[in-house]
Amino acid sequence: MGAKQSFPREQIPQNRTFVVTGANRGIGYEIAKWIAMLGGTVVMACRSEDETMKAMRQMDQEYKEEKAKGTEGLVDVPELSLVFMELDLSSFKSTKAFVQAYKDSGRPLHVLICNAGISKAKPEQTEDGFEFMLQVNYLSHFLMIGQLLPMMKKNESETRIVLVSSDAHKMCGYNLEAINYQGDPSNFGVLDYYGRSKLYQIMQMHCLHRRLRNSNISVTSAHPGMVETKIGAEFKDRTAYQLFLKMSRLVGVMRTPIQGATTIINSAVNPDLKSVSGVYFKDCQPASTTSVSRDEVKQEELWNKTLEFLKGHFTEEEIYCLEGADPTETLSD
Ligand SMILES: NC(=O)c1ccc[n+]([C@@H]2O[C@H](COP(=O)([O-])OP(=O)(O)OC[C@H]3O[C@@H](n4cnc5c(N)ncnc54)[C@H](OP(=O)(O)O)[C@@H]3O)[C@@H](O)[C@H]2O)c1
Repeated sequence: MGAKQSFPREQIPQNRTFVVTGANRGIGYEIAKWIAMLGGTVVMACRSEDETMKAMRQMDQEYKEEKAKGTEGLVDVPELSLVFMELDLSSFKSTKAFVQAYKDSGRPLHVLICNAGISKAKPEQTEDGFEFMLQVNYLSHFLMIGQLLPMMKKNESETRIVLVSSDAHKMCGYNLEAINYQGDPSNFGVLDYYGRSKLYQIMQMHCLHRRLRNSNISVTSAHPGMVETKIGAEFKDRTAYQLFLKMSRLVGVMRTPIQGATTIINSAVNPDLKSVSGVYFKDCQPASTTSVSRDEVKQEELWNKTLEFLKGHFTEEEIYCLEGADPTETLSD
C-alpha cells in the first residue's frame, strides 16, 4: 500500500531547518529520519529526552544501512543532523518554553511539521483545563505556530507549515459550543473528539492560508492513511474501531510508518509544492475534505474561539502576524 506515492530523493541543504513534533516514534520518526537523511537539520520536538536520544541512535543506524544499500539521494555525513528539544503539547507552559528555547537557540525555522497527536478514551483535562486531544492535537500546535510566525515571516527562503491531520475528520460532529468536552464521561466519543481535533487543523489551515496568502509561508495539511502505530491503543476497546481495523487489514490498506510518512515528507520537501498552500493531501495528491471543513464562516468562528481560548498567551506582535500582517511593519503603521 502506498506504492504510488513518493517524495523526491533530492538533497536538502543542511542549514534548512525543520521542526517535527512527536518525532521519536511512529510516523514522526520516519518523517524526521528521511528529512535528515536527505541532508536537512531536524529539531525533534518531543516529550522525553531519553526516548528521543534512543530514536536518534536508531536513525543513525538505519541511515548507515541505507547508505550501505546505496539508496539514492542520501547526504554523505558521519551522522545525521538531529537535535532534541523538549515539548509537551499538553501544557501551554511547556509549549511556550519550547518556543522561547527555540528562539534563544538562534536556529532558523524553514518548515514546521505539526505531527504529534494522541487519542484518549476518556475525557481527561490538561493542566490548562482543556480536553486532551483538543489541546495536544490542535490548541498547542496553534499556539506554537502563532508564536513562531514572526520569525518564520522574516525568512528569505520559502517557508512551510504542514499540519498532520486525518480522514478521521470525516467521521465526527461539529459543535463549537461543545468544543471543550465537559459532559458525562460515559457519553464521551473518543473517535468523535479525535476526529474533531483533526477537523480543526484543516479549518485552521484554511484560515492561515487566507491570512498568509501574500507571504513567504505556505500551509498545507495531510492524511497519512491508516498506519499501524501506537495512536490506536486508546481505541482498542471500541467495536467500531476494531471493525475498521479488521476491514483495513483485510483489504490491505494498513500502512507502515514510512508509507504513512511519505505524503507528509513530500509536502515538506518537494520543490514543486513550494507555493502550494491551503491544500489537504492524501497519497501525495490533493484530496477532498468535508463541507464543514470548507465552510469559511465556520472556519472563522473556530479561529475566533481559538483565540479566545489562547487569550493572554500571544503578544500583540504575534496576533498581528497571525492576522496576516508583515512583522517588519510597525504596529502603529
Ligand atoms: N496512525 C494512523 O493511522 C494515523 C492516521 C491519520 C492521522 N494520523 C496522525 O499522525 C500523527 C502521528 O501519529 P502516529 O500514528 O505516528 O502516532 P504515535 O506512534 O502514537 O506517535 C505519536 C507521537 O506524538 C507524540 N505525543 C503524544 N502526546 C504528546 C504531547 N503531549 N506532547 C508532545 N508530543 C506528544 C508521541 O510522543 P510520546 O512517545 O512521548 O508519547 C509520539 O511521538 C498524529 O497527528 C495522528 O493524528 C495517524
